[in-house]
Amino acid sequence: MADEIVPPASQLAAVSLGNDGSTVQKAQFSNRVLIRTILDRPDGGAKLAGQKIRIGGWVKTGREQGKGAFAFLEVNDGSCPANLQVMVDSSLYDLSKLVATGTCVTVDGVLKVPPEGKGTKQKIELSVVKVIDVGIVDATKYPLPKTKLTLEFLRDVLHLRSRTNSISAVARIRNALAFATHSFFQEHSFLYIHTPIITTSDCEGAGEMFQATTLINYIEKLEQDLIDNPPPTEADVEAARLIVKERGDVVAKLKAAKASKEEITAAVAELKIAKESFAHIEERSKLKPGLPKKDGNVDYSKDFFGRQAFLTVSGQLQVETYACALSSVYTFGPTFRAENSHTSRHLAEFWMVEPEIAFADLEDDMNCAEAFVKYMCKWLLEKCYDDMELMAKNFDSGCIDRLKLVESTPFGRITYTEAIKLLEEAVAKGKEFDNNVEWGIDLASEHERYLTEVLFQKPLIVYNYPKGIKAFYMRLNDDEKTVAAMDVLVPKVGELIGGSQREERYDVIKKRIEEMGLPIEPYEWYLDLRRYGTVKHCGFGLGFERMILFATGIDNIRDVIPFPRYPGKADL
Ligand code: 4AD
Ligand code: MG
Repeated sequence: MADEIVPPASQLAAVSLGNDGSTVQKAQFSNRVLIRTILDRPDGGAKLAGQKIRIGGWVKTGREQGKGAFAFLEVNDGSCPANLQVMVDSSLYDLSKLVATGTCVTVDGVLKVPPEGKGTKQKIELSVVKVIDVGIVDATKYPLPKTKLTLEFLRDVLHLRSRTNSISAVARIRNALAFATHSFFQEHSFLYIHTPIITTSDCEGAGEMFQATTLINYIEKLEQDLIDNPPPTEADVEAARLIVKERGDVVAKLKAAKASKEEITAAVAELKIAKESFAHIEERSKLKPGLPKKDGNVDYSKDFFGRQAFLTVSGQLQVETYACALSSVYTFGPTFRAENSHTSRHLAEFWMVEPEIAFADLEDDMNCAEAFVKYMCKWLLEKCYDDMELMAKNFDSGCIDRLKLVESTPFGRITYTEAIKLLEEAVAKGKEFDNNVEWGIDLASEHERYLTEVLFQKPLIVYNYPKGIKAFYMRLNDDEKTVAAMDVLVPKVGELIGGSQREERYDVIKKRIEEMGLPIEPYEWYLDLRRYGTVKHCGFGLGFERMILFATGIDNIRDVIPFPRYPGKADL
């Protein structure tokens, strides 16, 4: 049928006119209309009545009515939180195969204004004329029960949780924030740089890296092989050596006796075989189970990269090499931390946005961080309002107001020393914290949240931290006690961003590395950036999932990344 042939992509955009002259947009590369383009209109789609369209989606709820004469299906295709109501007559299809939650339907139909007075909120529904495709569901076996499901329950059904309203809304919000990130940095002339996932440098020096190695698979295979084919003994090696000697003697004798060319060639061939066999036996006799060792340590020269390698904890050090040539750059990718944290704010695999700006100092860094967070809040209010409404209804009634507040209010800015003073004052007034408050401590999550949620009630930037609790690359301040570091703290989450001005002075950074007991050799390339054409520069890292937590008000970071990885869990 002609209407089943997909027209070229260039002709897919606007396919038909509503009776007010408006258009329904077809999904790109698919011969159907996105449900969002019908429902997400000021008139709720009413003015499109009379249009014949094709839609596809999954049934949220279905019910047979009129004693089985027709069925109403609430269909969702993921393009927006709202469902399209679809009416199917029993003359078109076996309705019992359509109504189960999770059923996939592709149908052609005519948009109609539903009859008034049935308490329905729908401004438009689809009256089906033809059922094109059905992906059935056996309701007795469908892993998602119809009852209201907790996010915790859904973590054990990762492959189907994207079918739920909450998780699909989070996916759209996540997508929007990723787009906003690129949009923000591209608008400000930053270049997107891909930093490596596998690295041989430890950026944060915190020893929380996952190792990337093939040694373990290699050893497992070897150990099985040694069981299946026990290695040759010393006697086997000796016997093989003897055969080589005997065959060597034969060749020598034949040559001395001026034997025929054919005889000598044959004997040489035999000798060659014996030598190869000996080499193989000798090599196998040296195979030992367990990790290869050299001087008592694991011999990583035998590993895949010929040296120890890890999954990156941050792309910062590598992106600095591009900042120190291309000025304003950013990286945005997955990062990995093997910390054994079971909190609702930590993942073993999370995404980080890391800009790096040359010719810029700590204040520029704070200005960039504040502008970026504000930009993302504004973006969500403009582009994801319906999804944000769902978040407000299901998780955090204040989340939309929070976005509005953050977008429009300057962030607080205080030094670490001032922050400690404020916390000490709170303690003096009777506030109890689990962790002690004194100058020099790493602020605990409870301290951060008290500052931003209770004292400031808005995002707060704390800067100039004690050097003892921060990484080696942060610029030492003139007091020699603090470094030009800054953390952005936000309500609900605590630390959202960590950043700093980088130490650009060769002598100072070298001394810092030594002071911290880190080996110099792995950082030689990093020191080269200071040796040759050094430049004042700064940057920060924003935890992408923490930004989603902050925006949506969802409590657990495991619910805002499609496939969460944390201690004991790496499903799919
Ligand atoms: O403060 P962090 O450790 O900073 C860095 O890695 C710097 N190299 C960034 C830079 O300057 N380019 O991490 C940055 C942010 C944190 O503020 C937090 O939001 C997030 O990354 N983060 C985590 N998010 C989820 N799970 C974890 N385990 C996280 N660890 C850090
Ligand atoms: Mg940090």
